[in-house]
Amino acid sequence: MKNGQKNNPPPCGLTGGGTSDNLKEKRATMKRDQKRWDKRFKEKAFALGKEANLFLKRKLHLLPVGRALDLATGEGRNAIFLAQHGFEVDAVDISEIGLRKTRRLAKEKGVRIRTILADLDAYPIEKERYDLIVNLYFLNRRLLPKIKKGLRKGGTVVFETYLLEHRDLHVGGPTNPKYFLNPNELLTLFRGFRILFYREGIFREGGKRKAIASLIAQKP
Ligand SMILES: C[S@@+](CC[C@H](N)C(=O)[O-])C[C@H]1O[C@@H](n2cnc3c(N)ncnc32)[C@H](O)[C@@H]1O
Repeated sequence: MKNGQKNNPPPCGLTGGGTSDNLKEKRATMKRDQKRWDKRFKEKAFALGKEANLFLKRKLHLLPVGRALDLATGEGRNAIFLAQHGFEVDAVDISEIGLRKTRRLAKEKGVRIRTILADLDAYPIEKERYDLIVNLYFLNRRLLPKIKKGLRKGGTVVFETYLLEHRDLHVGGPTNPKYFLNPNELLTLFRGFRILFYREGIFREGGKRKAIASLIAQKP
């Protein structure tokens, strides 16, 4: 479907169990996140740039071409890069404005992306659907089981995000500790997978110092 949303789940729907207080709290958090990111993406310019993430670009040769899911796609730079390299891409995000920009950029680049407006906390990733799942600069630990189930046997996950020590660099980025990885945490999260690449530490990339962990791992 061309950049379609028609058959997608309802916008940011919250599904699943939980007490009504829990659900209310989740909804409030989700609304806050959505507002925050919509505001960030409102400008005409691309807040995160149009160029794909460097790690994804560098490691493209390790990734099996096929059906890909880009989690928290933002303005779509990584999803579009993958589509340009032959992947059939589903791109999920909570920000309608980000997804609008994703569709615009996809059109500009002449590729097709399926954009899905959803809260990833509630989004049901279809089991064994994807050859590749990409999770860049987004951390929701509750998603891990869904990511693992969503991959086909032999499918690959690409994951990169900030480590807790990033905050000590005082170069911006998130502040809430729950959005940061602990030392070696990313490795542990994918225990049982075949690690094709792993690094963690402070790196200078795109002219900036970042404390990050990056992983490519294959489902056995
Ligand atoms: C730092 S951006 C990363 C964007 C993209 N992965 C990239 O590297 O360009 C984080 C993204 O997470 C999205 N996001 C935050 N909470 C979300 C949620 N609960 N469900 C889906 N997306 C969410 C935001 O809208 C934003 O686009």
